[in-house]
Amino acid sequence: NEIYLQGLAGTTPALSTDLTALEESAAAVLTPEALGYVAGGAGAGATMRANREAFDRWKIVPRMLTGATDRDLTTTLFGAELPAPVLLAPVGVQSIVHPDGELATARAAAGMGLPMILSTASTRTIEQVAEANGDGPRWFQLYWPNDQDVTASILERAHKAGYTTLVVTLDTWSLAWRPRDLDRAYLPFIRNEGTAIAMSDPAFRARLAKTPEDDAATAILQWVGMFTGTDHSWDQLVVLRELWDGPIVLKGIQHVDDARRAADAGMNGVVVSNHGGRQVDGALGALEALPGIAQAVGDQLEVLFDSGVRTGSDVIKALALGAKAVLLGRPFVYGLALGGEDGVRHVLRSLLADLDLTLALAGHRTAAALTPSALVRG
Ligand code: FNR
Repeated sequence: NEIYLQGLAGTTPALSTDLTALEESAAAVLTPEALGYVAGGAGAGATMRANREAFDRWKIVPRMLTGATDRDLTTTLFGAELPAPVLLAPVGVQSIVHPDGELATARAAAGMGLPMILSTASTRTIEQVAEANGDGPRWFQLYWPNDQDVTASILERAHKAGYTTLVVTLDTWSLAWRPRDLDRAYLPFIRNEGTAIAMSDPAFRARLAKTPEDDAATAILQWVGMFTGTDHSWDQLVVLRELWDGPIVLKGIQHVDDARRAADAGMNGVVVSNHGGRQVDGALGALEALPGIAQAVGDQLEVLFDSGVRTGSDVIKALALGAKAVLLGRPFVYGLALGGEDGVRHVLRSLLADLDLTLALAGHRTAAALTPSALVRG
């Protein structure tokens, strides 16, 4: 209604309300390197395509005269009520798309009351983002260092700065084969973007001080060596449990057995995700993995979902198949590229309005009450 009313005054939205169109618009404002990094996937892009195909395979079956005039999008995660079942996925190096980087995202998220998940590969520090996020809900995503002092120090900072939930990303302990970045020899982290959290960390600096050469290149190499290249083990999750006094969510879970192990390890949630198709080429569409995992562990863990969410109907499908909430990835990054804080807000508002309307027209009043019976596979 707001958009149509503005239309009466001759104004149309600055950015498209079709979130799938934003990549093309962002291409005009991003450097080829940044665009390739954000839009690209692993290998030949099969997993990215599979993510979308998985959504297309499920269809919503609209119901009529159900009294869906007033909707309720709220959900509760780890005891906190959210206005809608949507979080901002952890996305590293946001300054490569907009100078305000993570600060703009933090402000937009706070204004909407939706949790921002801060990446370990942020271009701003844990504390700077917390300040920009103010009273907004915020979670912290860990790329798990191979040094316990650094892990402890980073987690302590996050806890102190008001991040409530820890998301441990397991699927990116090494960067994947990503031709768009490889062809340009482009890795944002080694250009000194995305290392702000470590570089501002006392434990990381103490480690650096022990290296023979204390220059920028050495620091970056230390960063790469510490945050990538080490797979951890299920047993080591005990360490994180000791270091983090709050909910822990494992991100990148795609197999039912891994979801069960997460529950057995005393974790509190999983994000069913293939990292937006950025890690394993030829993997299953993330939505394909969701129903089985939700069925197996949905009563023990909070099951979240990401990879390929672009529209309100995608959110409905993920919730109906067992997700408690979804994480939004690339679309908000394109919003950030195109309009900074306003651009992120535009994307979030568009997604929520689309979700609200589509939910209503499909005949559902409450997002949290969706079940597989809302869908048909075909
Ligand atoms: C990511 N993702 C990601 N995940 C994570 O745990 N830590 C990170 O630092 C990043 N960085 C990152 C950068 C960029 C440019 C993208 C596109 C993605 C993955 C992200 O959290 C999420 O899983 C996917 O983006 C979801 O897929 P869609 O919505 O982008 O298709």
